[in-house]
Amino acid sequence: MSEFNEKLLLPNIPDLHKIEVYEQNNGYSGLRKAIGMTADAVIDEVKKSNLKGRGGAGFPTGLKWSFMPKQSAKPKYLCANGDEGEPGTFKDRQIFGFNPHLFIEGSLIAAYAMGIKAVYVYIRGEYVKWIKILQQAIDEAYSKNYIGKNILGSQFSTDVYIVRGAGAYICGEESSLMNSIEGERGYPRVKPPFPAQVGLWGCPTTINNIETLANVPLIILRGAEWYSQIGVPKHPGTLLFGVSGHVKKPGVYELPTGSLLTDIIFKHAGGVRDDKKIKAVIPGGSSTKWILGGELDGVKMDADSLKAYDTSIGTGGVIVMDEDTDVIKVLARLTHFYHHESCGQCTPCREGCGWMEKILNRFIAGEARIEDVDLLLNVANNIEGNTVCALGDAAAWPVQSVIKKFRGEFEKRVKKISSEKKYVPPPHLISV
Ligand SMILES: Cc1cc2nc3c(=O)[nH]c(=O)nc-3n(C[C@H](O)[C@H](O)[C@H](O)COP(=O)(O)O)c2cc1C
Repeated sequence: MSEFNEKLLLPNIPDLHKIEVYEQNNGYSGLRKAIGMTADAVIDEVKKSNLKGRGGAGFPTGLKWSFMPKQSAKPKYLCANGDEGEPGTFKDRQIFGFNPHLFIEGSLIAAYAMGIKAVYVYIRGEYVKWIKILQQAIDEAYSKNYIGKNILGSQFSTDVYIVRGAGAYICGEESSLMNSIEGERGYPRVKPPFPAQVGLWGCPTTINNIETLANVPLIILRGAEWYSQIGVPKHPGTLLFGVSGHVKKPGVYELPTGSLLTDIIFKHAGGVRDDKKIKAVIPGGSSTKWILGGELDGVKMDADSLKAYDTSIGTGGVIVMDEDTDVIKVLARLTHFYHHESCGQCTPCREGCGWMEKILNRFIAGEARIEDVDLLLNVANNIEGNTVCALGDAAAWPVQSVIKKFRGEFEKRVKKISSEKKYVPPPHLISV
């Protein structure tokens, strides 16, 4: 991995959110260059760069764009996903706050490449402050004809609209997001058909994360060749690591892919509070599997490297837990979140998340039986892969990994109480 210290998405330039400052720093030059290229050449450049989606699944961005029909009787849309509902994930709001024009420019290049009629930026409703900054930036971009009709004197026209979410995590899932924009209930859609064929209002649609789109202007301006050499070749670029939990300096740190997890925690986030030991780390937002404190040496933060630890890069939301953490309590809290946020469409997720929460609460209350450990695992295994969208997987993976890595903690909770109290399950749980 090459040494790379540049901040591509969040450079330390005061007032970069203002269009004049952004323009003085090469702003909108990527768009200008893209408009001078053919749409196919822009998609090819993004393909060559190897840019992978930053919204969690890591899908190759150029390939996704190439799925959009070239000719379409219907209008085509781009949804920029800034819902950011995953616990431990708070990086897109930094882009809105500090470099909104970079994201807008990336969306416009994407729109040019795919022949998009309108860009819908779907933002978490609580992000009032960031929505204001983004709207201001959009207005500025309209006033300078970067957005609107015949952009920069070309044949290309597109509009950009902000849509505010209403606080449901499920609406970050791409097909629920489209339903939500349409004013429908945020239920995930069954695929196929995929959004590139039947998306927003039944029209061809691409959904990309905010950070993904913010990478595009530099890829076009400096070239795919340059970009693909940053970080790890198969998953290049920088990532915005949102570090939270028991660290001295929580925050968002932009570093190349393949950075050491220990560097992120100790060099950048200041190490663990009170210099305690680390019990576990969640590497990529709450839905990713946990890594033990004792396994951290040499862990590199990129998609392929994390596979070796049976986990994934997700959204780069690193959650650090110190040696005093009650992992069962943390897991119960996360499971409560997934239970609360399950949209209820699929039975395994709707029922299973609630069952997992109940079983975990039995451990916390000191009322669990030894069989409950495997019962919990069994419920998680029956949710995974059996739902329309990945919310069910997101709920199951932490449970599976915590049982695998901390089975002893579950057993200790059982043993401590079993001699004193006999657990009698309530009737509605007997069949679980
Ligand atoms: C329950 C759920 C919530 C999600 N929330 C978000 C989100 O807040 N932001 C996001 O970009 N992707 C989210 N995703 C992933 C999106 O469905 C989609 O894969 C992503 O926006 C695609 O962008 P990318 O290709 O640029 O990564 C979520 C997925 C699921 C299953």
